[in-house]
Amino acid sequence: MGAAEWLARDAAAVWHPFTQHSLWRDDAPTVVDRAEGPWLFDVDGRRYLDGVSSLWVTTFGHREPEIDAAITAQLAKLDHATFLGATHVPGIELAERLLETAPTGDGPRLAKVFYAGDGSSAVEVALKMAYQHSVQAGGRPRPLFVHLREAYHGDTLGAVSVGGIELFHATYRPLLLQTVAVGSPGIRKPGQTPAERATEAIAELEEVLRRQGDEICAIVVEPMVQAAAGMLTYDAEFLRAARRLATAYKILLICDEVATGVGRTGTMWASEHAGVAPDLLTTAKGLTGGYLPLSAVLASDEVYEGFLGTAASGRTFFHGHTYTANPLCCAAALANLRLVAERGLVGQAAALGERLGRLLSPLDHDDRVVEVRRIGTMTGVEVRSVGERTGAAVCQAARRRGVWLRPLGDTVVLMPPLGLGEAETEMLAGVLIEAIAEVIQ
Ligand SMILES: Cc1ncc(COP(=O)(O)O)c(C=O)c1O
Repeated sequence: MGAAEWLARDAAAVWHPFTQHSLWRDDAPTVVDRAEGPWLFDVDGRRYLDGVSSLWVTTFGHREPEIDAAITAQLAKLDHATFLGATHVPGIELAERLLETAPTGDGPRLAKVFYAGDGSSAVEVALKMAYQHSVQAGGRPRPLFVHLREAYHGDTLGAVSVGGIELFHATYRPLLLQTVAVGSPGIRKPGQTPAERATEAIAELEEVLRRQGDEICAIVVEPMVQAAAGMLTYDAEFLRAARRLATAYKILLICDEVATGVGRTGTMWASEHAGVAPDLLTTAKGLTGGYLPLSAVLASDEVYEGFLGTAASGRTFFHGHTYTANPLCCAAALANLRLVAERGLVGQAAALGERLGRLLSPLDHDDRVVEVRRIGTMTGVEVRSVGERTGAAVCQAARRRGVWLRPLGDTVVLMPPLGLGEAETEMLAGVLIEAIAEVIQ
C-alpha cells in the first residue's frame, strides 16, 4: 500500500499532536516506514535526512546496533515490573550512571533519580517536588513558580502553567497554577548584546524575588536556550544569576534539560555552559537515544532528605506512573549513556555544531533571514515572513530535496542526530539554504 492509501486511513482514524486537521492532508505528511542512521524511509521508498532527530530525540542515529541489542537482551529477561514496592537492575544502574554524569557546578550535588515517562511528566514531578519541599521546610506557603515569558516545558497542566507561548498556552490559562513570568533573556532589542539583555532580565528577576520571594518555591528555566520558543539562546550570566538568587532566597532552581540534555548543546548538560548545578534537573528526549519514552528528575540531597519521615509524617512523595522506570526504556538509556562515553559523543556534538554553524554562515548576511541562533547542534534559522506559514513552506521545499525538517513558526529548526557525518551535514545545510532561496524571493 502506498502513502496515499495510508494517509486516507490515517485521516479516518487518527488525531495527531499539535496538528490542525483541516490542513493536515494539504501538507502531504510523510508516512514513515523504516529508519536507519540519520535516514527516514517512507512507504514509497523515498529517503529523507532526519534533520530534527525525530523531534529532538535521536542521539547516534536510528537503529543503532548496540542500542537495538541492549533492548533485545533486556526483552529476553524482563519486560516490565512495577517500581512501586519493587526495583530492578536496569533502573538502579541507570540512576547510578545518570548521577555520575550530573553537572557539578555552582549548586548542590545531585544525588537521587526519580523516573517518569516523558518530558512533561518530569516537569510535573519537579514542580510538585519543589512545592512539597517548600511546605516541608515550614513557614509561609510558597505556591508561586517563576518562569520565563516565552518558555515551553510541555503540555500537561503544570508544565503549561510555567510555559509562555501564547499560541499553545493561552486557552488553558484559567486552569493553571500560580506563576510569575519574567522576560526572556533571549529576546533582544535591535543592537542589544546578549550580555546587555541578560543584565536587564536579571534585574527583572531580582525585582520579582525582592517583592514576592517568600511566596515562590521554584524558578524554572530551560538552561541557555529556550528551544520551542524558536531556539532563543541567551547569555550564561542569566543562568548564573538565577542560581545565585535562588540560593539567596531559599528557592529551588529547576533546570529543564529535556531538550538540551545528553549532548545537544555541545556539553552533556546545558547547565555546564554556565558552571551551574540546579536543585532539580529534568531529562527526557535524548535519554534513551531516541528509542523509548523515559524521563527522570535528578534531585539534590537536600530536597530528597526533606521528604524523609515516618509513614504518618505526610512527607512521602505521592507521585508515580504505572510504567515508571520501565526496564526496556532503562536498558536503552543505559546503552545510550555507555555509548555517549565510549564514543566521546559530547565532543563530536560540539564539533558537529561548529561545522553546521560554518556551513550556515552564508545566511548571516542574507536578507531573507532574520537571524541564525545556535548553541551546539541546536539551531534555529528565523526566516523573513512572506505570508502565512513561511517556515512550513521552507520545510516543504527541503523535504522535496530529501531533508525532513519542522518549523516553529517562521523559525526553521535544525537538530540533527549527534553522530551525523560530514557529507550529511553538508547536505542538511545546503538543502536549507536552497529551500530558503526557493520560497523567499
Ligand atoms: C524544554 C522542554 N521541556 C519539556 C518538554 C516536554 O517533553 P515531552 O514532549 O516529552 O512531554 C519539551 C518538549 O519539547 C521541551 O522542549
